[in-house]
Amino acid sequence: MSQTCAPPAPLYLDCDTGVDDALALAYLLASPEIDLVGVGTVHGNVDAPQGATNTLDLLALAGRDDVPVAVGAHDPLAGSYDGGVPHVHGRNGVGDVVLPASGRSPAAGTAVDLLLRLSHEHAGRLRVVAVGPLTNLALALRADPTLTKRVVDVTVMGGAALHPGNVTPVGEANIANDPEAAAEVLSADWDVTLVPLDVTMAHLLEETDRKTLLEAGTTLAPWLGEVLDLYFGFHVPTFGRRCSALHDPLAAAVAVGGVTPTLAPRVPVVVDTTDGPGRGQTVCDLRGRYAGYPDVPGARTRVVLATDAPLTPQLLERLLTL
Ligand code: RIB
Ligand code: CA
Repeated sequence: MSQTCAPPAPLYLDCDTGVDDALALAYLLASPEIDLVGVGTVHGNVDAPQGATNTLDLLALAGRDDVPVAVGAHDPLAGSYDGGVPHVHGRNGVGDVVLPASGRSPAAGTAVDLLLRLSHEHAGRLRVVAVGPLTNLALALRADPTLTKRVVDVTVMGGAALHPGNVTPVGEANIANDPEAAAEVLSADWDVTLVPLDVTMAHLLEETDRKTLLEAGTTLAPWLGEVLDLYFGFHVPTFGRRCSALHDPLAAAVAVGGVTPTLAPRVPVVVDTTDGPGRGQTVCDLRGRYAGYPDVPGARTRVVLATDAPLTPQLLERLLTL
């Protein structure tokens, strides 16, 4: 019997484009399993408008001006945008590389408008991947709590279960930049797969890989190699060499099925929204550790702690097609 391939699943990406967001975007564009139907940007690595500009420029280099990009929240639910992380992603969010300008403007309306519209257009099939702070998703849930009924699943790059944080001793950037939003998203009536630092810090891109991208004779991949330059330098104190963790592309690969979680228990996850030293921590109930991490009845969040294969070879294979 011939294998009937399922049609590509429509997918919405919410991001703070950023260097690793750019890799996640490219990975999704090169993944036949999904159809990228829209992108929303949010404060985080850079401000939301700059994130949209970066996303539009990257899409143009990939020949994908068909994908709508909407500007999302400028500030977290509680507090104000903190100015981003120029020492990590550059002042412009893409390693201070000047990408060819797309000349395209963001879609009218906000990222929330786009997400809600897409959830109706693709009701029951839409998949969501979020690789920045969760402000847009929380605002969308506030605007229309029935959103959860139209979305198949949500994959989030964020948090730290047994791993230290990266912006505080316990806080990972996407969660810590808007803990209130993360708490609302993780407690909503939908299935969430959390891809935390525990697993993303185990997937690295090396200088040899960056050189492969630089030398690709394609339109987008060489630019990704350039964009990675500053980001590689940021990782030297952590890994003792120029390289980069693959936070956002790993979340994209888990969502697409390019990488399969081998340890991902469904457990209660509470986000610390207090103003103490634990603010932004994802408190994951992993007390089942010595019993093989059984799923906890009623828990809706799957915490990915290990995957079946390294992401890098597959990431390169897909990026080199762009
Ligand atoms: O902690 C890593 C996350 O924060 C990634 O999504 C990176 O792009 C930044 O947004
Ligand atoms: Ca990001």
